[in-house]
Amino acid sequence: MAPSTYLQVTLQERPPADITPTTFKQEIVPFSLKAGTGQILVKILYLSLDPALRGAMKDQRSYMPPVKLGAVMRGTAFGEVMETGQGSKFEVGDIVEGAFGWREYGVFDDKFATKLDLRPGMDILDYMGPLGTTGLTAYFGLLDVGKLKAGETLVVSGAAGATGSVVCQIGKKLGAKVFAIAGSDDKCQWLEKDLGVDKALNYKSPEFYNDFKKAVGYFDVYFDNVGGDILNFALTRLNKGARIVFCGAISDYNTTKPTGLTSYMNLISQRAKIEGFLVLDYVNRFAEARREISQWLKEGSIKRRFHVVQGLQNAPQSLNLLFNGGNTGKLVVQVATTPTKL
Ligand SMILES: NC(=O)c1ccc[n+]([C@@H]2O[C@H](COP(=O)([O-])OP(=O)(O)OC[C@H]3O[C@@H](n4cnc5c(N)ncnc54)[C@H](OP(=O)(O)O)[C@@H]3O)[C@@H](O)[C@H]2O)c1
Repeated sequence: MAPSTYLQVTLQERPPADITPTTFKQEIVPFSLKAGTGQILVKILYLSLDPALRGAMKDQRSYMPPVKLGAVMRGTAFGEVMETGQGSKFEVGDIVEGAFGWREYGVFDDKFATKLDLRPGMDILDYMGPLGTTGLTAYFGLLDVGKLKAGETLVVSGAAGATGSVVCQIGKKLGAKVFAIAGSDDKCQWLEKDLGVDKALNYKSPEFYNDFKKAVGYFDVYFDNVGGDILNFALTRLNKGARIVFCGAISDYNTTKPTGLTSYMNLISQRAKIEGFLVLDYVNRFAEARREISQWLKEGSIKRRFHVVQGLQNAPQSLNLLFNGGNTGKLVVQVATTPTKL
């Protein structure tokens, strides 16, 4: 049964620093959605909250155009097909993925949706975690960009988050010595006790830099999710030929003027490199990676954790959890209850 109204969340302002209560607007709109030719009507089930959304709110050159003011906020989501238009390739009840945005319902052209290839034993949420963008980022970043080898020393920042927690575990699988960096003692305990890293360091501790020097010494690969001061320090701890996988710089996403790096000249003396990458460039290899990661999930050698927020109305304030460290594992919003078909 279709409702008479539904909720959508639009972008109202481009905040110069932290996201505030006036950044987004909640709009209740009449339900007058109908799937046209080659279209589907989708009920959104889960919405992914990602740090990249903060970049999409800025009016700046990037790999995607910014979200327009007044437009529905961007976001990857999973939904259930409620109605198909003439000639649509989908069937009612299919679970589909797409950049459906922050809305409870929507009509989309077939070409903007992909049917989720739900493998036996996998949960729908796994496709937002280890089998989704963050898991694939961990996989290709570490293997393809970092080229991590057995016996090497790997350091991972943002280690208790969606991407970092998978990087740590793949690092152990590859036979590396893994050092994790996270923002609380609880997260460090989870990383050491449950995920099996060799040592986790709390970057909020006043002893962090000394602890790093003592525990890690120098490293071969740094998988960096946070940028800023920790990256600047890491540049002083390079082994010869070290690789820095520059995945993200969340510490600077809420600022308009990052402070910059002063230690970069170590890259020359240590013949090291720092390389940015985008997981989107690996789209042709997603199936290959998903086969391997789902095998790891099935045998229990990769663990996952989700932080699930209930209700689209809570998405705006929940986005801040990524910036204040309130999430452990993958942050998602459950927009509607999971259909019985699953
Ligand atoms: N290149 C790509 O294709 C690609 C794809 C996906 C994601 N990414 C990047 O990967 C990174 C992680 O994304 P995710 O989705 O997996 O998020 P996440 O790690 O699940 O969540 C973000 C975490 O960052 C940490 N953090 C926030 N502010 C920080 C600061 N100032 N200093 C240090 N740590 C801070 C917080 O944990 P603590 O409690 O530890 O502070 C928070 O939980 C982001 O930078 C994102 O942009 C890149």
